[in-house]
Amino acid sequence: MSDIKVLLTRHLPDEVEAAFQEHFDVSLNPSDTPLADDQWRDALQNFDAICPTVTDNIHADLFQGISSPRTRILANFGVGFNHIALSAAGKLGISITNTPDVLTDATADLAMTILLMLARRAGEGERLVRSKQWSGWYPTQLLGTMVSGKTLGIIGMGRIGLATAQRASKGFGMKVLYHNRKPLHAEVQGDLQAEYCGSLEAMLPRCDYLSLHCPGGDATRHLLNADTLSLLPKHAFVINTSRGDVIDEDALIAALQNGAIAGAGLDVYAREPEIPASLLAMKNVVLLPHLGSATLETRTAMGLRVLKNLKAFFAGYSPPDLVSPR
Ligand code: DGY
Repeated sequence: MSDIKVLLTRHLPDEVEAAFQEHFDVSLNPSDTPLADDQWRDALQNFDAICPTVTDNIHADLFQGISSPRTRILANFGVGFNHIALSAAGKLGISITNTPDVLTDATADLAMTILLMLARRAGEGERLVRSKQWSGWYPTQLLGTMVSGKTLGIIGMGRIGLATAQRASKGFGMKVLYHNRKPLHAEVQGDLQAEYCGSLEAMLPRCDYLSLHCPGGDATRHLLNADTLSLLPKHAFVINTSRGDVIDEDALIAALQNGAIAGAGLDVYAREPEIPASLLAMKNVVLLPHLGSATLETRTAMGLRVLKNLKAFFAGYSPPDLVSPR
């Protein structure tokens, strides 16, 4: 048995927990809920590695007053790491890893699921059936809008943005526009017949659908706000599977209430799991509980990726998915 002590802050798929137990002295968090701040401080003193996830708020204050933690690595279960105070952890020599690649397809699938649900009013239809209010088919019932031939704007053309663009372009015959720090390689862009837009001002007025795929954090906070939302056509739908803070939620609610956009589909929220009552009350809104990577295959692959990072780290190598220090 290894004497390297690892804390998993959440229950992970059985296969993953078993694989961890083969390699490390593993402790589980029996409550399967986020650790309180004092539990975090304890953990930093008692474990060589901690595997947190996206709902663990690892803020800078947690590291205050700790000068030489036992923890040397936070191996995050999730690709996003904007919930971790990188610089405070870095000052104590703690490395951070994430789990890119393995959740790309699942998240892109979910963005398309939401896009289709919005276009075809699937949530409204399901609610109609379940409420036993459906009185039968008629020609003008719940008319949605087409997806094929329409224009999808993508903000953030990383792995997930690209996988969404591929589905939209090749699977659904959509025209893809995108805004990103830099354009795609010419070959990839040509294959998708996608068009790079150097600014949101150039892209948003042309979007029938807009899907967000940029990381969360200070650089992208409220990228979609009252001003940028006002650039979208009235018939546009907004889809967010990235991070809640990329959208100014109040401005989104106002845009929906004023009819400035046609609808929104959200998998992530500014203050998860809190969802504003006004969003819950709107019928042209699809609301999912942060399901982007939620398939058994994906969550298993994410867990095994965390393990791979830890094994490399404790064998003295740089872990493959090191995000800090860089
Ligand atoms: C992530 O990995 O960052 C997602 O939000 C959870 O799947």
